[in-house]
Amino acid sequence: MIGSASGPRIGITGLGTNVPARVMTNDDMAQLVDTSDEWIRERTGIRERRFALQEEALSDIALPAVREALAEAGADPAEIDLVICATVTPDMLFPTTSALMADALGMKSAAAYDLLAGCTGFMYAVSQAYAMLAAGLSQKAVVVGGDLLSKILDWQDRSTLVIFGDGAGAVVIERVDAGGFLGFELGADGGGGIHLCYPGSGSRHFDDPNSILKMNGREVFKFATRVMVSSAEAVLEQCGKTVADIDVYVPHQANKRIIDYAVGKLGIPPERTVVNVDRFGNTSSGSIPLALADARAEGLLTDGALVLMTGMGAGLTWGSALIEWGGAPASGLT
Ligand code: ACO
Repeated sequence: MIGSASGPRIGITGLGTNVPARVMTNDDMAQLVDTSDEWIRERTGIRERRFALQEEALSDIALPAVREALAEAGADPAEIDLVICATVTPDMLFPTTSALMADALGMKSAAAYDLLAGCTGFMYAVSQAYAMLAAGLSQKAVVVGGDLLSKILDWQDRSTLVIFGDGAGAVVIERVDAGGFLGFELGADGGGGIHLCYPGSGSRHFDDPNSILKMNGREVFKFATRVMVSSAEAVLEQCGKTVADIDVYVPHQANKRIIDYAVGKLGIPPERTVVNVDRFGNTSSGSIPLALADARAEGLLTDGALVLMTGMGAGLTWGSALIEWGGAPASGLT
C-alpha cells in the first residue's frame, strides 16, 4: 500500500516514551546464555537493554508514555476519540491494552484497539490514525507502540535473548497548522512469516507446548536490509522527495549492522540518522517512538524538518512514513 497525503494537514503534536527501570547489560546476558559483550556489540551494536519485572505488563510501561505525549500536546484525555496500541505483547489478548489504557486515563469517548504488525506496528498504527483523521472519523488520536518482548523470549536461546528489549512510546496525532504527514508505504510478505514467529500464541496449536518467539536471524537479516531500503525509496518517490531532502532518518532499531547497511545504500549521512539500539536493543513496536524521542533530545526535530521513519518486522511486514515535523494543533480548523 502506498499513498501521499492529500487532505488536511495531520501531524504529531505530542510524544512520550517510557522504558522499564531494570537494565540488563551484555555481561548480565552472559550470565544467562553462552555469549559475550564483545560478540553482542560486534554483531548487533547493543550494549544494554531494559527488561520489565515479572509483575509489570505493557500498560504499566506504556501509560507514562501516553501521559507525557498528552501533556506535550496539551490534550485533555476526554478529547481523545481513538487509541491504537501497536504491540505483540499486550497485557492479555483481550481486553485490549488500548481499552485498558483508555479507561485508566478517562478517555470516555475513545474507540480503542490493539494492532499487531510486529516491529512495524507503530508505522501501521500511525498510518491508520492518519487515515481515520483524514476521513473525518477521528479528531484527536493517541498511537502507542510498545512491547515487552522479554516476556515471550526463550531465555535459553542466545540468538534472540540478546537482541530484544522492552519499551514503549506514544504520540498524539491531530490536525496541525503547518507540516504534517506527507505519505506512507506499507507492505507484508506472509510467505516469509515463518522466519519470525510466535507459535502456539493463537488458534493454531503445535506439538511443541512452549509458546516462545522463534527467529531465523539470517533470513530476517536479509529481509530487513532489503525492505529498509526499498520502502524508504518508495515513500520518497511517492512524495516527490529525495534522500537529500531528509533531515532526520529514524530507522527501526533492530541491529546496528542493518541500520548501517540501509544508511550506506540510501546514502543518508550518519549524522542525520538516529541510533539508540546500543541502549535499548530491539524494542519492537516501541523502537521508532523511542528513537523519535532521542532525535528530539538531540535537537533534530526542528520545525519543518523532514523526518523519514521505516520499520520492519514480524509478518513479515514493513512500513515507512514521511512527515514534516512541527506545526501547532489545529483541530478546530475546517
Ligand atoms: N552469542 C554468541 N554467539 C552467538 C549468539 C550470541 N548471542 N547468537 C548466535 N551466535 C552464534 C550462532 O550460534 C552461530 O554459531 P555457529 O556458526 O557455530 O552456528 C554464529 O553465532 C553466527 O550466527 P549467525 O546467525 O550467522 O549470526 P549473525 O551475524 O547473523 O547475527 C543476529 C545474528 C544478530 C540475530 C542477526 O542475524 C540479526 O540481527 N538478524 C536480524 C534480526 C532482526 O532484525 N530481528 C527483529 C525483527 S523485528 C520484529 O518484528 C521482532
